[in-house]
Amino acid sequence: MKSTESLAACSNIARAARCMLPRGFAVACHAASAALEIPQRERALVAHAVPHRIAEFVGGRWCAHQVLAQLGRDDCELMPGALGGPSWPPGILGSITHEDSICLAVAGDRFDTLQGVGIDLLSNQRAAALVELADLFLSPAETRIHQQNAFSPQQLADFFCAKEATVKAVSHLAGRYLDLAAISIRQQHTEFSAIVADLSCTVRGSLSHLDKQILAVACC
Ligand SMILES: CC(C)(COP(=O)(O)OP(=O)(O)OC[C@H]1O[C@@H](n2cnc3c(N)ncnc32)[C@H](O)[C@@H]1OP(=O)(O)O)[C@@H](O)C(=O)NCCC(=O)NCCS
Repeated sequence: MKSTESLAACSNIARAARCMLPRGFAVACHAASAALEIPQRERALVAHAVPHRIAEFVGGRWCAHQVLAQLGRDDCELMPGALGGPSWPPGILGSITHEDSICLAVAGDRFDTLQGVGIDLLSNQRAAALVELADLFLSPAETRIHQQNAFSPQQLADFFCAKEATVKAVSHLAGRYLDLAAISIRQQHTEFSAIVADLSCTVRGSLSHLDKQILAVACC
């Protein structure tokens, strides 16, 4: 992607994320790049990874440090927790996603009621392939509906993206691996709610259809 194209894409994605998140969240979006500065111990986590993975990891962590700085909290390392998500500092809720060499991070603090936030970017190209994989991520109830009256490719992509954002919002509360098929999505236009099997929290979120990606934000 040319740098002007990438700048425009990042600014559109950041704008969409700001509109979808509750007030008080900081947002940063940047092209994936191994050249960005992040703490040495974080960079070391991907020292042996392939170049694409290094670029997206570094870009994602760089965005995460930008949002922490906006909250006055960039005094920490973001090491991965047991379930793969970053260990945000106490009192901070945040999430990272990367797709199409674009990285997005969001974080906020001072929330009375929120327990988790999750974001997911899904490229339209990857979304098209999900029709073949629906059995792997639809819940049993969704599968029954799909068998009678197939969801459109767009609905399947929306469900998948909403479920990935939901995993990120709740996995620290569940404290265990979450299967996408254990999550059921109810969608109304661009709004959704998610029910996670054996977890009592309520997840609500929204979807935005951007030029080349779908963006999902989930909060619980
Ligand atoms: C975990 C999952 C949501 C990641 O989403 P993805 O679309 O593959 O990748 P994205 O680029 O959007 O997001 C990746 C980022 O999400 C974050 N992440 C990964 N696992 C996470 C988790 N359990 N909770 C919160 N955030 C998580 C990380 O920051 C990761 O980036 P990094 O490794 O560079 O720091 C997705 O792989 C998934 O749903 N997997 C199926 C369920 C699963 O594996 N669950 C395991 C954890 S319960």
